[in-house]
Amino acid sequence: MIANFMAWIEKRLPLMDAMNKHAAQYPAPKNFNFWYVFGILASVVLVNQILTGIWLTMSYEPTGEGAFASIEYIMRDVDYGWLLRYMHSTGASAFFIVVYMHMFRGMMYGSYQKPRELLWIFGMLIFLVLMAEAFMGYLLPWGNMSYWGAQVIISLFGAIPIIGDDLTLWIRGDYVISGATLNRFFALHVIAMPLVLVILVFLHILALHEVGSNNPEGTDIKKKKGSIKPEELSKFTFHKQYSEKYDIVDAIPFHPYYTVKDLVAVVIFLIVFCWVLFFAPEGGGYFIEAPNFEPANNLKTPEHIVPVWYFGPFFTILRVVPDKLLGMITMFAAIGVLFALPWFDRGTVKSLRFRSKAHMINLTQFVICFVALGVLGTMAGTELTNFIGRIATLGYFGFFVAIWFYSKNEKTKPVPERVSG
Ligand code: HEM
Repeated sequence: MIANFMAWIEKRLPLMDAMNKHAAQYPAPKNFNFWYVFGILASVVLVNQILTGIWLTMSYEPTGEGAFASIEYIMRDVDYGWLLRYMHSTGASAFFIVVYMHMFRGMMYGSYQKPRELLWIFGMLIFLVLMAEAFMGYLLPWGNMSYWGAQVIISLFGAIPIIGDDLTLWIRGDYVISGATLNRFFALHVIAMPLVLVILVFLHILALHEVGSNNPEGTDIKKKKGSIKPEELSKFTFHKQYSEKYDIVDAIPFHPYYTVKDLVAVVIFLIVFCWVLFFAPEGGGYFIEAPNFEPANNLKTPEHIVPVWYFGPFFTILRVVPDKLLGMITMFAAIGVLFALPWFDRGTVKSLRFRSKAHMINLTQFVICFVALGVLGTMAGTELTNFIGRIATLGYFGFFVAIWFYSKNEKTKPVPERVSG
């Protein structure tokens, strides 16, 4: 009876078919390494954020008068409220760690290159929305850093000529950050942004499955018929049945091979995550900053207004440019160039393993500059931090300029025709 019922559903809505296509039987290159677990981890964290967010919303009060106290209430009186709150606040930092690793993997293996440009664009849109989501979420506890952080960032828009003042007023819904601002940020944070995020993740996966996964060698998996010489066919001894059925070589079904591998990663991730959650939920002041344990106070500015660590790189770029408007333009340009990476890189070889020394050096200096910008972003601004920040900003943008020049006629190593790992 159950089988008949399932068949009845399947005929009208082919769920199992979609499951097979996008999960169980998805042809994954056989050589995925550790770097390929971060997409799944990002999905796990996304689910964590949505679920804990729903429960937090049940006891949170989105008003200027009640927000701070409602967080205290959640932390002290709601059953396991402290756990929900810390899962959510630590989850935000975990999200960015995982997503930064995920993006770096894409840069290392050229996963943004043709034909995966759109997949990369969807990823970047996710990143942008994720930053907006985190920014708005940080206002909700209505702590003093929530207040002043939002104050600094929103007032930046005031530097835009002509429309600047009206724009800041429109964003805040008031002449200062107030309950009205909190209210709209709440609406955007709990429904609008998560909805957009989930839709984008869906499109991201669809776009990935349309073109297929890249892999650490950057060599595509192949159709069996036509693209493989007959004498080469004997080389694929692994999973012959699967290859025959789906007319594919060098791939293995996602289930059970990668479900099991990803499960190991998820367990390790959860162990680390739980350790932070139970023993260092504030992340030493990096996940929840000290001034946020005081209620918002428009008469008391925190000594140093710095954002949470994950905004660090972009905040430093903003801060080291002496002019407010130029700083803002440079900061948005830093995100913009990432969008355009598939077109800055004019090379055809994808993986770092087979690219030139110049590329290796360029990517390494990019990582160093990005980390330096991040560290500086969590520190109070001084002459010295600004100086180092400017050099790191040059290194950041230099990556894109350099890759555009050398990638056209890059001296690369021979790329294996078939996935070998
Ligand atoms: C909520 C955030 C995100 C989720 C849930 C997510 C999910 C995934 C998943 C499940 C995969 C397949 C598994 C894997 O390759 O790791 C993937 C692949 C990919 N993602 Fe994301 N992603 C997110 C954000 C991003 C961002 C911000 C970028 C970059 C701008 C990005 C770029 C890519 C690329 C290029 C691939 C293909 C990698 C390859 O085949 O080598 N993703 N993503």
